[in-house]
Amino acid sequence: MAFNTKYEEAIPGREVIILCVGTPPLPSGKADLKYIFQAAESIAQNISDYALIIQKSTVPVGTAKKIEQIIRSKTSIGFDVVSNPEFLKEGAAVKDFQNPDRIIIGAESDKAKAIMENLYRPHSRVNRPIVFMKRETAELVKYASNSMLACRISFMNSLAPYCEKIGADIKEVAKGMGLDGRIGPRFLQASPGYGGSCFPKDVRALIDSMESNQINAQLFRAIDQVNEFHKKSHLDRIKQLVPNLSGKQLGIWGLSFKPRTDDIRDSASLVLIEQLSDCGAKVYAYDPEAIQNTKKLFPYIEYAKNPYEAARGANAVVVMTEWDVFRSIDLFQVKGLMLEPNIIDCRNIYNPEEIVNLGFKYVGVGRAAG
Ligand code: UGA
Repeated sequence: MAFNTKYEEAIPGREVIILCVGTPPLPSGKADLKYIFQAAESIAQNISDYALIIQKSTVPVGTAKKIEQIIRSKTSIGFDVVSNPEFLKEGAAVKDFQNPDRIIIGAESDKAKAIMENLYRPHSRVNRPIVFMKRETAELVKYASNSMLACRISFMNSLAPYCEKIGADIKEVAKGMGLDGRIGPRFLQASPGYGGSCFPKDVRALIDSMESNQINAQLFRAIDQVNEFHKKSHLDRIKQLVPNLSGKQLGIWGLSFKPRTDDIRDSASLVLIEQLSDCGAKVYAYDPEAIQNTKKLFPYIEYAKNPYEAARGANAVVVMTEWDVFRSIDLFQVKGLMLEPNIIDCRNIYNPEEIVNLGFKYVGVGRAAG
């Protein structure tokens, strides 16, 4: 393995070139493809023999073809472009790479297919499904998969307020639904709303691509709108326990969009911090990894060294990310530190009955208040 930042040294003589540059969203939601097209130009300028270009970035349908056109217009050397979307989760990339549910390959030529088969031989030996298809189809599989997972979360988060109203428990609903083999249990957890650098961006990019093709993207718009609306709904949950937030102190447990990362992109915590600050509440935040990143956006709130410090003197604690440290915390000690024993559990990590028995007032997402 060698690392290099110069195309003219990295590309000549390579049989396989993997493209995995960022495709950040433009303000319209459209994926910005400038980095990928710049990379395609650099490949065209530097290939010396036949090369297979494996496109792994999340890109709108038709991008592999455009990459091919860019390179073809600049060189007569043989090459193929395949689409091989990435399904790795942040924080679990190595595990996901070694144990993929499936490998999706959009390839046109027999030569490209043969190289890909060879490359993924270790996976085919252990019976991982390797599925060949058209490049356009492979590109869409990525957006469709992320949008389906986002849809499941928005579906559950849409049911959450109804559960709260009628006294049902969304966790039990998810359990009951998930036991149906056709539905399955994963990605059914009600939450503060999905975040990160993938689901919000990819749902919006799919909407943009569909609407640019004059296709109705109503369902996908609803997934996104439900999520945005839901992220703002936690203020009302907090107000059930602390009606007047002006001058009150709130402990926020969790800033990252999910545990085991310092990534705060599109995290629901950011929306909540802004809302609480607008209400004149004093925010005391704790996260095992994401404080430095959050400080850049919110230098004016207080940050705690541990969850106990964030709870000290608080009128309520709000759980925003399901870090293990919050699951295993000494709640009895926490209660002793707080001004008022109120917990708003946006990840439903606590057992409502147990926590009420400890003397807390409790509000979850999709659970009757206790
Ligand atoms: C996601 C996909 O899961 C990966 O398969 C994909 O490769 C990746 O995007 C990508 O496109 O690169 P990631 O963004 O790392 O991975 O995070 P997830 O673990 O999928 O979680 C996304 C968000 O959904 C988090 O905010 C999480 O808290 C939320 N979530 C997840 C829920 O609210 N409820 C659930 O039941 C599951």
